[in-house]
Amino acid sequence: MEIEITQPKDNLKNTMIVKAVMQGEALPPFATEVMNKGAFEGKTGQLFSTVHNSNRYIFYGLGEQKEFELDTIRRFAGTAVNYGTGMKNEKVYAELPIVKGYTSNEIAQALTEGAILASYKCIKFKSKQDDYFEVKTTIIQTKENIAEGVKKGSVLGKSQNFVRDFNENPANIATPQKLAELAKELAKQNKLGITVFEKEDLKKMKMNAILAVNQGSVLPPVLVILEYNKDKKELPLYAVVGKGITFDSGGISIKPAKGMQEMKYDKTGAVTTMGIVKAVSELQLPIRLLGVFAATENMPSGTAQRPGDIITAYSGKTIEVLNTDAEGRLILADALAYTAEKKPEAIIDLATLTGAMIIALGHYRIGLFSNNDKVSKALFDAGEKTFERVWRMPLDKEYIEMNKADFADIKNIGSEMGEAGSITAAAFLHEFIGDVPWAHLDIAGVDNIQEKHPYLSAKGATGIGVRLVTEALERMSKK
Ligand code: BES
Ligand code: ZN
Ligand code: ZN
Repeated sequence: MEIEITQPKDNLKNTMIVKAVMQGEALPPFATEVMNKGAFEGKTGQLFSTVHNSNRYIFYGLGEQKEFELDTIRRFAGTAVNYGTGMKNEKVYAELPIVKGYTSNEIAQALTEGAILASYKCIKFKSKQDDYFEVKTTIIQTKENIAEGVKKGSVLGKSQNFVRDFNENPANIATPQKLAELAKELAKQNKLGITVFEKEDLKKMKMNAILAVNQGSVLPPVLVILEYNKDKKELPLYAVVGKGITFDSGGISIKPAKGMQEMKYDKTGAVTTMGIVKAVSELQLPIRLLGVFAATENMPSGTAQRPGDIITAYSGKTIEVLNTDAEGRLILADALAYTAEKKPEAIIDLATLTGAMIIALGHYRIGLFSNNDKVSKALFDAGEKTFERVWRMPLDKEYIEMNKADFADIKNIGSEMGEAGSITAAAFLHEFIGDVPWAHLDIAGVDNIQEKHPYLSAKGATGIGVRLVTEALERMSKK
């Protein structure tokens, strides 16, 4: 999907034109004349369509001004593109809505994001590609200068689609090595520094928590470090860290069969980390950024780690592994301890860490855990703007106490019953970041969706986290 900008034209023929209207705003006479009275009032998400002068017009309700939120624009764009797809239109014309309190660039950015996100559908594994139609271009009609908003929206939308597309690969395709290859490709394209630590390196470095999780798999693990603006030492350093479990079977503490296929998405944190580095580098944010991820499968086998095993993590702390399915916190323990050594201004980690997160917040908000109010605020505000919303969860010392072990320093589950499961998981990570400002995003509830959405496809990986963290980094870099 490409986005073009043109001056408003009234001589269009045989095309699709979409227009968003506030509640109470008048439609052109050609529309009101053919409409049943009251059929369209401009309520949020309401649609009205008619043909005029050979053009298909679609009107989309933005609702009341006082309830307006930017995401309605993404939904508008997504709905328009979905309509265009259904009617097999190669091009969709959209009039840039003017909304009080928002700049044209903000509106254009949201419109661009919605259009680009709605244009993605995972068809790469279908043998008959011709059965699928894609809208090629969205043309925004406006007199305003919106080049900057469109550029930003394109980078963010495409970076998010990059995450969705790779995440969709199942575990027989997206192996840890493939993740490393993707990172190498990204480094080459975006001129980034890259280091790939292979299994032998991890052994030498005593990254025993990553190695313990990997023990049951025939595929070797990797720890990857991407570096943006590596040599610009004058710029502040930030880090994003991701969980890259290419398949989470649970290991010896094996998961039930039902729904296990969704554990291909357990690499989302790692892939999102790459998406964030891609976006930040293409937007040329004035920061240095480390993108760090550990990748491995979590498999049961004769060589797999067992419940009760005790390991010494990279940081020197000893861990009693009471449940091999709590593997994300193990690989993150080493990745975070390594990243914290670099003393960044802040570390943000992303992980599909706990099923308990879905119990707590469902699918609409990301769990945020942090030792720092400024980082939390940047993420909260970025969440409201990008509609990748977060909610801060507690990290009191009582939760940290819950991870104390009988035979080692800490255990990898807080309680047998799973009480406060996502909090004790975050408290476990907290043991490995020292005093570096840090935020953990538990994205288990948002990494994929199973129901209809106006700009994300009906089923599959969402790429949520890219726009959120990029926006938060931009906010932090300005302060
Ligand atoms: N990858 C899972 C968490 C998860 C579950 C993500 C469902 C998305 C959907 C994680 O590794 C895990 O298995 N966590 C366990 C922890 C428990 C054993 C303490 C969980 O949540 O059940
Ligand atoms: Zn697990
Ligand atoms: Zn997992």
